[in-house]
Order: sequence, then C-alpha cells, then structure tokens
Amino acid sequence: MHGRQGQIVVPFLKWAGGKRWLTTQQPDLFPRSFDRYIEPFLGSGAVYFHLKPSIAILSDANAELISTYVAMQQDWRKVRNALLRHSRNHSEEYYYEERSRKRRSPYERAAQLIYLNRTCWNGLYRVNRQGQFNVPKGTKTSVLLESDDFGTVSKLLKRAELRPSDFEATLKQAGPGDFLFVDPPYVTRHNLNGFVKYNDKIFSWSDQERLRLALGAAADRGAMILVTNAEHHSVRTLYSGFGKEIILSRSSVLAADSENRGSVTELAIAVNYEVRCRP
Ligand SMILES: C[S@@+](CC[C@H](N)C(=O)[O-])C[C@H]1O[C@@H](n2cnc3c(N)ncnc32)[C@H](O)[C@@H]1O
Repeated sequence: MHGRQGQIVVPFLKWAGGKRWLTTQQPDLFPRSFDRYIEPFLGSGAVYFHLKPSIAILSDANAELISTYVAMQQDWRKVRNALLRHSRNHSEEYYYEERSRKRRSPYERAAQLIYLNRTCWNGLYRVNRQGQFNVPKGTKTSVLLESDDFGTVSKLLKRAELRPSDFEATLKQAGPGDFLFVDPPYVTRHNLNGFVKYNDKIFSWSDQERLRLALGAAADRGAMILVTNAEHHSVRTLYSGFGKEIILSRSSVLAADSENRGSVTELAIAVNYEVRCRP
C-alpha cells in the first residue's frame, strides 16, 4: 500500500535524471496498490517521495548518497544543524574549503553532501577517480529551502530499508505483489538528451543487458515493474515484448542551443499491471 494522497514531499536533493517531472506530469502511471516498493536506482527518490509507500527497499550504487539518506532517517536534526552552519558561512572560499574537507560524523557528511548539492554548479554529483567530489561552485546561494521538510522526509525514510548496492542484489528481493520502479542511467545518446555519468564508472550497455535479464526474472516471479529509459531503437529492441510501452515527453532545458530546446521523449515500460496514464 502507499499514501500518495496528502502532503507533497519534495526531494531534498537535485539529481541528474531526477523524476520529479514524471510525478507531476503522470502521477497515475504507478500501480494503485502493491506490497513493497523497491527502487534500485534511488538518486533523489522523486518517485519514492511521491508515492510514500508503507514498506520499501531503496538502494543506489552511490554509497555516499545512501549514507545521506540513512543520516536523515536516523537524526535529521543533526543534519539540519550542520546545514544551518553551512548556510551562515556560505561563500566562494567556504564552498571550496568544505568541498575538500573529510568529514567523519555521518550527519556532518550528509550535511556536506546536501550543502554541496545545493550550491554546486547545476546540482551535479561528480567525483574524480579518488572519489572526491569535484564540481565547481554554482550560482545558487540558498542552503536551506522553503520546501525543506526534513521531519517528514525522516519519518518516510523510517519505513524503508536503505542499502548501498548494485541494482542486481536489490532486484533479487522482488517477488509477487511488489512494485519495482527502475530508473537506470540512460546509456544511449538519444534525441538531445545525451547520457549521464554519475560516478567514476559509466553504466555500460552490458549493464543494460544485465538489467534486462534481472527484470525478466523479477517479472516472472510476479513483481509489477515500471522501467524508464532512453527512447531509442536499441532500448526498444532490448525490451521488445516485455510490457506496455509508454512514450513520455518532457520539456528540456539541457539542449545547448535554444533552437533545439523543447520536448525530449523518454520510454517507460510497465509490466504486470494496468497503466492509467494521461494522454
Ligand atoms: C537516473 S538516476 C536515478 C534518478 C532518480 N529516479 C531520481 O528521481 O532522482 C540513476 C542512479 O543510478 C545510480 N547507479 C549507477 N549505476 C548503478 C548500479 N550499477 N547499480 C545501482 N545504482 C546505480 C546512480 O548513482 C544514480 O543515482
């Protein structure tokens, strides 16, 4: 079951490929009821915070990201206090100082990730080969936002089991009655979207094939699935016959030249449940 009715919970991170737009554009794309919610590519958790499920397994290969959620789950006040300090001190010099600092406490590390996410260039998460965050300072200066409701976020996260892990281990958990929302990095360069490198490792085409196999096994066990990807012939071929294809279109601000700015299409495939989406 889930409780998508009621209060809107905005993700507290900005994430490349974040699906907040999908939750506002197609709020009914998801199954009406399910047992557990399972999301193996969590990112900013836009769909999780939209659906507010009662039981969830959430994971991502980015261990720092998962530690941030765990800190929010366990003691959001400590994270907020550290963010208040960053907010008071924020400046160009402070940003670079904080970026290079090794924080030990899990709450300080969480606040550091959130602070850098909110003030870095374009809310991007990028690390170098040594795993150090290396995005330059951006133009945004707000460290605390009006939309912040860390108390509610923490309460929601208490219903979830959070794991730093590759998607395959998480997908193995899915069984009949579970709902899997699967939003991997899009490998193929398509339309004007390009692809995104999240960590020092690129998600490769063989990862896409590994994902397809793992999803096939989860579908055979009776899990409901919504998987998103690039709207590209290679992806269509990979998922051919798997479920109901839905073309999603959203406005893009990413294209470099204004002439090409506009609508970008993505592909969603729904398996083992009836989709009710808006035209
Ligand atoms: C498109 S983003 C997910 C965005 C998310 N749906 C949101 O609304 O913000 C893809 C995520 O996959 C994660 N990732 C990359 N490779 C992975 C892997 N092999 N296993 C699990 N997660 C991975 C990245 O760290 C990134 O957070």
